[in-house]
Amino acid sequence: MRELMADASSLPQQRQTPPQALLERLKDFGQEDAFALWDELSPEERLLLVNDIESLDLSRIDRVIRCSFRSHGQHDSGLPMAAIEPVPESWYRQWRSGPLGTERGWWKMGWKAISDGKLAVLLLSGGQGTRLGGSDPKGCFNIGLPSGKSLFQLQAERILCVQSLAAEAINDGSAGSVQIHWYIMTSPFTDEATRKFFESHKFFGLEPDQVTFFQQGTIPCVSKDGRFIMETPYKVAKAPDGNGGVYTALKSSKLLENMSMRGIKYVDCYGVDNALVRVADPTFLGYFIDKGVVTAAKVVRKAYPQEKVGVFVRRGKGGPLTVVEYSELDPSMASAINQGTGRLRYCWSNVCLHMFTLDFLNHVANGLEKDSIYHLAEKKIPSIHGHTMGFKLEQFIFDAFPYAPSTALFEVLREEEFAPVKNINGSTFDTPESAKLLILRLHSRWVVAAGGFLTHSVPLYATGVEVSPLCSYAGENLEAICRGRTFHAPCEITF
Ligand code: UD1
Repeated sequence: MRELMADASSLPQQRQTPPQALLERLKDFGQEDAFALWDELSPEERLLLVNDIESLDLSRIDRVIRCSFRSHGQHDSGLPMAAIEPVPESWYRQWRSGPLGTERGWWKMGWKAISDGKLAVLLLSGGQGTRLGGSDPKGCFNIGLPSGKSLFQLQAERILCVQSLAAEAINDGSAGSVQIHWYIMTSPFTDEATRKFFESHKFFGLEPDQVTFFQQGTIPCVSKDGRFIMETPYKVAKAPDGNGGVYTALKSSKLLENMSMRGIKYVDCYGVDNALVRVADPTFLGYFIDKGVVTAAKVVRKAYPQEKVGVFVRRGKGGPLTVVEYSELDPSMASAINQGTGRLRYCWSNVCLHMFTLDFLNHVANGLEKDSIYHLAEKKIPSIHGHTMGFKLEQFIFDAFPYAPSTALFEVLREEEFAPVKNINGSTFDTPESAKLLILRLHSRWVVAAGGFLTHSVPLYATGVEVSPLCSYAGENLEAICRGRTFHAPCEITF
């Protein structure tokens, strides 16, 4: 740490006042209240407080707080809401066509790139998952499938499935011939538990050295007047710096070089809490390569105006694509209808699944780091006064989109690829139970299409069968297992 960092020997046992230089620095930024309870602290607690404050880059944090509060209520980068435009339908039509013409061509192109080792997957798993309750990282969550698999296990097994399909595609079925590297971003709140979960589950069958964990940064939580909130009398309350912290974290942990050394060219980046997420989707990758863009995102049509999803928009007339988060979209804009189509004007929902070229990640990691405007999320923050309302400061992964010279959106079917796990069971939307049912319904359709039969003792809308990702990635190769067989729901179908 920097020169002022104290250790037990440098801090006089009987120190009566806070270190003067540090106090002056805090005063420069209006944060001297952090030392308000100094007199009540034990020598050990004083040391903890000094070290905690010393670990903060105060001038940068001050700049972020000031810039973010100044632009609060406006769209990202200080742009007023009025300056956003819907994504034109014509753009969308252009994205969906291509010289290859068919999804089949994209699928093949994707396999080739995966077999050549050019794809890595990057999981954003640093969020605190407060809406879901519980203290474990969200990925450890068992949504109640017949198999009892966690979100992490579902994702790991989809990676295993893609690896073996890619090996088959290059006529080399040997295990281990294709390996997809999995980068997992954690935060100080999720890191230890995530690593332990992977270790105790033997990496779900993946090779331990194909998984790299890295941590994102944190930033102090502040009150509405921009002052640090104290979690304890000797610790500033902090929160992860948003999933857009991934760019800085990749850079500071030197993982962009690591990717480059491995020959990786494309990075498939996604959120932990979509139970239907198609990790390392070859069709999406082939599409991305075919379009020659530097970023792409999967989208679904927004289901209802208040759905808690970000929507893709254009920043001003002729401006670049970006996302406006649901928390920042004016309600009247969220429900505005396009008179021509009768559909929502802002209808392309972000499902938090993005593809990037490694070159673009390098570019953004240098650019976004200097960006001082963070989004402000008003949340309950644990503090010395109990839970108090305050602000978390966050960068969002899609803040990078305006930096992209080219972006394409790839529409997927919600019932095939989007099962968000956001709220506790009993809530109206996006619960573990609703995500489980989406999986069971999709997989039941796969099984019937492959010639299988289903019996059930509870209504079919409330049950179904689960297909292990080790058997099938997207409904393929199920005939040999299912044709002519009867399965009693709920159950897991595996080899
Ligand atoms: C996110 C998207 C939203 C999208 C929705 C779809 C962002 C900022 N918002 O919203 O546009 O429509 O998913 O389900 O992407 N995370 C971190 N570090 C953090 C904060 C979050 O890694 O500091 C991770 C989470 O663990 C999760 C993902 O980012 O995997 C999304 O974060 P979350 O806070 O759940 O976003 P939503 O509000 O659901």
